[in-house]
Amino acid sequence: MLKHLLNLKDLPVNEILKILDRAKEFINGEKVNYDNKIIANLFFEPSTRTQNSFEAAEHRLGCKVITFNKSESSIQKGESLYDTVITFTQYVDAVVIRHNQNKYYEELINHTNIPIINAGDGSGNHPTQSLLDLLTIQQEFKHFEGLKIAIVGDIVHSRVASTNIEIMERLGMEVYLCAPPELQNQDKRFCELDDVISEVDIVMLLRVQHERHKKEISLTKEMYHQLYGLTIERYQRLKETAIIMHPAPVNRGVEIADCLVECDKSRIFKQMKNGLYIRKAVIERSLKEGV
Ligand code: CP
Repeated sequence: MLKHLLNLKDLPVNEILKILDRAKEFINGEKVNYDNKIIANLFFEPSTRTQNSFEAAEHRLGCKVITFNKSESSIQKGESLYDTVITFTQYVDAVVIRHNQNKYYEELINHTNIPIINAGDGSGNHPTQSLLDLLTIQQEFKHFEGLKIAIVGDIVHSRVASTNIEIMERLGMEVYLCAPPELQNQDKRFCELDDVISEVDIVMLLRVQHERHKKEISLTKEMYHQLYGLTIERYQRLKETAIIMHPAPVNRGVEIADCLVECDKSRIFKQMKNGLYIRKAVIERSLKEGV
């Protein structure tokens, strides 16, 4: 059976913990060599961290890497996502895909003989981001059950939020959501950041995703920072042991005060480093049991 990674909803907790354990083995220096494997990275949306950490992970696993360039491809001649991906499945051993269409993979999975790794689908899922978030939390606290997290920002458009809410609740964490009313989901409960800031173990800030908005939000950057950002004042109310997370890219001075991005409590760059090891574990999982 192909070992796709499309979302975390379909993965049992023990499988998720296995991926975290394998990532930790890579952190501890585990060496492997998959120099007979070729991976293609198909990014139809911009990315700095996900695309480049996947590429670095593939190189570090010894794989050969093909980086698809949308603007120089036959997408420009009208070729569909389906035809592009099925073309790649003739050449390589696994594909990593990011696309702005929610669940783009559903039209592909019954027609591919190689694993698909989802690097983000619209506002749907971002499984490798959530895995690297979980690894960062596990390294810090050694457990998940009972931890309190505030996820703050553009919840309604965020694939990081939707993926994390599902898996964190499944792992026994208490998830508090904070967002301006215009960025809240109708079907979820929201609270005020100031009501929970001094109680949470983790505050996870999210970028306002202007590129997914149909109309501009009513708040200026300054208003957003005062009402929903991690200001110095809110930072001072955090628990001694609390940590700050953000999937990035960060808008410094908007969702978080500039000087807090690299403060002692911040794990933002650690998250990025963990992304490399999680993606090594995820690619290996697909290659070992994939074909
Ligand atoms: N966190 C994240 O997905 O970043 P990129 O969009 O830069 O890949």
